[in-house]
Amino acid sequence: MRFIVCENYDELSQKAAEFVSAQIILKPDCNLGLATGSTPIGMYQKLVDMNIDFSNVTTFNLDEYYPIARSNNQSYHYFMTEHLYSKVNLKPENIFIPNGETDTPTEECKQYEKSIAEHGGLDLQVLGIGQNGHIGFNEPSEALNSFTHITQLTQNTIEANSRFFKNIDEVPTQALTMGIATIMRAKRILLLASGKEKARVVHALQGNMIDPEIPATILAAHNDVTVIADKAALDT
Ligand code: F6R
Repeated sequence: MRFIVCENYDELSQKAAEFVSAQIILKPDCNLGLATGSTPIGMYQKLVDMNIDFSNVTTFNLDEYYPIARSNNQSYHYFMTEHLYSKVNLKPENIFIPNGETDTPTEECKQYEKSIAEHGGLDLQVLGIGQNGHIGFNEPSEALNSFTHITQLTQNTIEANSRFFKNIDEVPTQALTMGIATIMRAKRILLLASGKEKARVVHALQGNMIDPEIPATILAAHNDVTVIADKAALDT
């Protein structure tokens, strides 16, 4: 695991955008796994400003709340449209995100996993990290060999994400998420961590020991992981 230490969030966002753009330059028809949450917002903004050509890129998002309408301004579909889809030349048919409106979530997850495989797998997966060490919505103590599935959010995650909702009761309690095995199959992984709330779990990543209570530590078993973190996230 390589660690790139940044002075602040702006530098982290710039380095992350350069990393993703390098992937697109190397392979213009690459499959990118993308994340939502507050951490990658700066990276998306920089990618937009860099005017990167996304015309041959395919994107697969990590997760979506369940159930949630696409039009809900807290859906990850809405988030991605606002920060990336509407601002770059991605083709609509090359955009994949789990469907939070489905009546058949298990089938949706199976189909999602199949689409990733049919496209030849993910070339680069971008990840954030939860305060409890989750990646995607793979929460502590969940199986480490899972593919895309429906999952129950922990109280910690519901509380952390309630900052985006009017009140905590509006936070969906379930999500559709790529599994740890889906993420681990990506050829390359970029994890972004910003802020002191992440220091405990980033410290665990640096320890290079797998702990099922901190799901991100499984990344120690992947051979191409880069962590871009700001100083606050490294300050334990
Ligand atoms: C988002 C996702 C989550 C977030 C994590 C950190 O698609 O899968 O794992 O990356 O909750 O969120 P922020 O960046 O808001 O701290």
